[in-house]
Amino acid sequence: MNLSVQVNGISFNTPIILASGYITETPSFFMEAIPHGCSAIVTRSLKKIVPDERKRVPVPRYAIIPGEDSMLNCEWGNEFGWDNWRDQWVRQVKDTGGPIIVSLSARDPEGCVQMIREFDQIGVDAYEINFSCSHSGALHGNLNVDFDHLASSMAVIRPATKTPIWVKLSYSPFVVGMARHAERHGADAIVCTNSIGPGLLIDTGTGYPKLGTQGGAGGLSGKAIFPIALRCVYEIARAVDIPTVGVGGICSSDDVLQMLMAGASAVQLYTYPALHGPSSLRVITNGLRDFLQENEWGLHDLSEFVGLTQSLANSHCFAGKSPTVQTARCTGCGRCETACLFGAMSIVPGKSGKTASISDKCISCNACAGMCPVGAITPNYQR
Ligand SMILES: Cc1cc2nc3c(=O)[nH]c(=O)nc-3n(C[C@H](O)[C@H](O)[C@H](O)COP(=O)(O)O)c2cc1C
Repeated sequence: MNLSVQVNGISFNTPIILASGYITETPSFFMEAIPHGCSAIVTRSLKKIVPDERKRVPVPRYAIIPGEDSMLNCEWGNEFGWDNWRDQWVRQVKDTGGPIIVSLSARDPEGCVQMIREFDQIGVDAYEINFSCSHSGALHGNLNVDFDHLASSMAVIRPATKTPIWVKLSYSPFVVGMARHAERHGADAIVCTNSIGPGLLIDTGTGYPKLGTQGGAGGLSGKAIFPIALRCVYEIARAVDIPTVGVGGICSSDDVLQMLMAGASAVQLYTYPALHGPSSLRVITNGLRDFLQENEWGLHDLSEFVGLTQSLANSHCFAGKSPTVQTARCTGCGRCETACLFGAMSIVPGKSGKTASISDKCISCNACAGMCPVGAITPNYQR
């Protein structure tokens, strides 16, 4: 079984990279995540000079959406000086053998160049230039949709180094155009998506926003953004010739596989490991191994799945048949009947207790399959 993937010729022993944020402010979380299958780290987005008003992250800085593996955050800036990475932490990561990607904030392109000159002397695997923080964008100018800023930043950053440059974007209606623009201006890979938003959550006990930023603006991350992140990756991967790295809402091995099939060459995770700890990655890597052992394509190399859906998605294979009820699994709980708005589903006596039954009123919407808690109803996708 081979879980390794490549981006710009850099080998990752699994596709799982720790995404930039507070958990990569120092290397310690990554060190704990390595034994569980984390292959590489992207540092916190570094600024050469952190402006005074950004030195303190407003509190509260997180608003977790309970039970949803999703959150709003209003973090910005590196709380520890960037020179810690130059002086000790890059070496610490390199000693583990794991690739290191240094994230730099695109707000100060000249500062990026100065830091790149110093990091190039130690040697890092790639730079990830962050053009896309959603909440700081709302408060300080939205780089994520600024085509001119992207071009002028790359005009100074690109010539400064031969090391691969990854451009990190976030969902917007212009994300594909921005990805193409980044490629034209010398990017070696696109990373998408950063947190999406900004969003807002209110504490109904006080009426105040839950986050401490002006107006409560925060970036949404975690499970809630997965389908949007996946669609971004799918669209970007078909629009550019450079690799795409998928990030946003990945919480399971199935999510990783979807990202790879959509066209991601590797993936990054933040919210899921941040909320569940470094060892939570173990379940994901084990799931990938199980998939490689059991998949119906008979493929044993994870990288062979990259872009699989690109060739399939234009001719949808759903035959329009009703889903199938596996009566042996069905517990007769009736959730499918409640979710069926077309009166096609009923719970009837079966051989061993009650079971779901589908009538010819079924229009193949498949809500029942999604609502079944025990996986007893399966959509009829063609293989
Ligand atoms: C608390 C927090 C801090 C973050 N800080 C950064 C950052 O400094 N630079 C960056 O490029 N992305 C940052 N991100 C975005 C993540 O790297 C990631 O792109 C985003 O959270 C979506 O992935 P996820 O759903 O797996 O969390 C941060 C996200 C969170 C939740």
